[in-house]
Amino acid sequence: MAKYKIAWLPGDGVGNDVMEAAGIILDKIGLDAEYIHGDIGWEFWKTEANPLPDRTVDLLKNTDCALFGAITSLPKEEAENALIPELKGKGHIYSSPIVRLRQEFNLRTNLRPCKAYPGNPLNYKDGIDIIVFRENTEDLYSGVEFFPLPDEVRETIKKHNKKMARFDGTPGNQIAVSLRINTKNGCKNIITDAFEYAKKFNRKSVTVVEKPNVIRETSGLMVRTAREVAKNYPGIELWETNIDAMCMWLIKNPLDYSVLVTSNMFGDIVSDLCAQLVGGLGFAASGNIGDNYAVFEPTHGSAPKYAGQYKVNPMAMLLSVKMMFDYLNEADKAAALDRAITKVVKEGKVRTYDMGGKNTSLEVAQEVARNI
Ligand code: IPM
Ligand code: MG
Repeated sequence: MAKYKIAWLPGDGVGNDVMEAAGIILDKIGLDAEYIHGDIGWEFWKTEANPLPDRTVDLLKNTDCALFGAITSLPKEEAENALIPELKGKGHIYSSPIVRLRQEFNLRTNLRPCKAYPGNPLNYKDGIDIIVFRENTEDLYSGVEFFPLPDEVRETIKKHNKKMARFDGTPGNQIAVSLRINTKNGCKNIITDAFEYAKKFNRKSVTVVEKPNVIRETSGLMVRTAREVAKNYPGIELWETNIDAMCMWLIKNPLDYSVLVTSNMFGDIVSDLCAQLVGGLGFAASGNIGDNYAVFEPTHGSAPKYAGQYKVNPMAMLLSVKMMFDYLNEADKAAALDRAITKVVKEGKVRTYDMGGKNTSLEVAQEVARNI
């Protein structure tokens, strides 16, 4: 029996292309693993009204972790229109399978390293080395939303907060409410993870990125918790920055920042910004990590128009594989892959179009494999 069981979830669009690239690396490096294919993505939404079928959830429960490609996520109306006729008009609501996976498996930490590999022509500045710790299960992603707003909910809110009265004149069918729900535990876990990382890798600062001057309760909880947790890490400075200012500072002085920690929605936004500093989504890897399970995925979308063309940069996927090796305590394999990626980027002989090259996703993966 293989040492690891890994769920293989290509998803749709270019998810398939980059997973094939991942396969080239895994074959070369010889991880002792069995890969088990799982159905997930747009195809299963269209035909089963469920992009994450129960059989896939069961499969994940019997594996050590999962590698995930990409999936198409569309807003409510577009999703409804894509259903096969038998499923239309039955009240099925599309919800992103990756968000569901994060919540069902309590993958509470989303790790997003953004490092400028030397020689990458897309680097905004050399030397950038930022890692984003994004809370991954709560916040505006909690999925507690109302439209139209039921009168009962409106009245209850009004009873507890007079500011709601401002919307008295607006009918329920003209108000949408999405709750931002953050727990003390959620804040504590993500902040602790960020500090533990800073301690382990000798990073001097952790920056908590929120907006407590306006969003007093939820952002406030995060910042207050950060101050508490920081007390346990005397050598590491806690910096507090508002999300809007952070976006400016990251463009102005990206080298000043090291470990960022933030809530789910702000983390989604700021991690795209950080990714762009080091080569864009073609270099943006992520790990969704919980106490018992983890899913590794590039953060780019499914780019349906490029599907099957092997055009997109597989580096984000390969860097996600590297994170998976770290998670499995296969440090030698993680280091070997990182060295090979570093070399291929630096030499610049084999590159996808985003980096100014003409090579395919698979050729890049083969070149990385050759250097392992
Ligand atoms: C990400 C993506 C997802 C998110 C989408 C695909 C649901 O943007 O992983 O950053 O919003 O978290
Ligand atoms: Mg995102």
